[in-house]
Amino acid sequence: MHHFQHKNGSLFVEDVSVRDLAKQHGTPLYVYSTATLKRHFEAFDSAFQSMPHLTCYSVKANSNLAILRLLAGMGAGMDIVSGGELYRALLAGVPADKIVYSGVGKKPEEIRQALTAGILMFNVESMQELIRINDVARDMGKVAKVSFRINPDVDPQTHPYISTGMKKNKFGLNIELSLEAYSLARDLPAIEPVGMDCHIGSQLTSIAPFMEALDKLLAFYEKLKGMNLDIQYLDLGGGLGIPYSEEEPPHPTEFGAAVTSALKGLPLKLILEPGRVIVGNAGILVAEVLYTKQTPSKNFVIVDAAMNDLVRPSLYGSFHRIEEVQQSGRAVGDVDVVGPICESGDFLAKDRQLAEVRQGELLAVYSAGAYGFTMSSNYNTRPRAAEILVDGDKATVIRRRETYENLVANEI
Ligand code: LLP
Repeated sequence: MHHFQHKNGSLFVEDVSVRDLAKQHGTPLYVYSTATLKRHFEAFDSAFQSMPHLTCYSVKANSNLAILRLLAGMGAGMDIVSGGELYRALLAGVPADKIVYSGVGKKPEEIRQALTAGILMFNVESMQELIRINDVARDMGKVAKVSFRINPDVDPQTHPYISTGMKKNKFGLNIELSLEAYSLARDLPAIEPVGMDCHIGSQLTSIAPFMEALDKLLAFYEKLKGMNLDIQYLDLGGGLGIPYSEEEPPHPTEFGAAVTSALKGLPLKLILEPGRVIVGNAGILVAEVLYTKQTPSKNFVIVDAAMNDLVRPSLYGSFHRIEEVQQSGRAVGDVDVVGPICESGDFLAKDRQLAEVRQGELLAVYSAGAYGFTMSSNYNTRPRAAEILVDGDKATVIRRRETYENLVANEI
């Protein structure tokens, strides 16, 4: 359920006309819906209400401060993967003790920043990282709380670039090494092992791989019991998928019921790190048709949004639904929707059935709220898009469009 609907043939985000927004703020334009964001967070979070838990929104999916603030206001913690994300989360008012820090390559200064802030825990991904966190914490006279990210070797059946919990992936520690890691951690003076963690991949459309990973973690938890450790947290990561097209991922309620029932009676606080499922379908990217062009083999719709604005189709071959902002009722034909960037890989859709569109008309690219703006770049010296947050009939600019001056500001 979301709040992007056509009314009398014209697309609205909640009570705001997309055409009016484009007129006022230009394109390409990211537009998010507050009601959808709130609904998704509530639906997800309440699916785990039968047990102690903390929903740590995964900042990388969409890191705009206004969105972080909104979610923090609803009680969300945050899952971060860099000093930059820590900075954003703190700036947005997220209490440090609701922040978990994952990632295979934390730098000493990032570890220091996180210890200074007093985050809930580090999700540690290698033995060398463990030693480094211990060294940094000891030098600061602090004790670092850690979980180990366990790589359960489970196939999440998703795109290979975003599957993370298989043996061949760079993430986490395998189960055998994890046992060694906990025993080393127990003996390190500036480390307190408090949890177990895993994140097996993103855009998962079935529950089975999550449950397979959870089973392996729980079997491992039994092994830890004899080690005199105080394990309080189980972090199951993120990864629940969303419908981009025909996918039918499990509803958070179904996911929550399966997970909470597997953990019933255990003295563990559950941590979840959802990203896409919260923001993915809460945002669209609006683009203007610059030209249409027919060649003997293809019909191209050239728009003013490109792979620098939304890289998912180019990078993963991802499908994003595209529709006219103003429905025309014209005949549908087969087109490639492409951007102005000088690469053939610059497309938003290939061989797509779309009603005939004309110069100056607007298109909405759906499901662009997650990994849209955050993965955007300045390639081809293109200023990044503006971002708008709609709430009822109110639209707020939450990030101004970049200017050419912004683009060269750090160059000497
Ligand atoms: N926790 C960790 C440790 C992660 O690495 C990720 C995502 C998440 C949580 C959130 O996963 P989600 O709930 O959003 O699936 N750029 C790709 C997705 C990369 C995901 C990276 N890690 C895309 O556009 O599909």
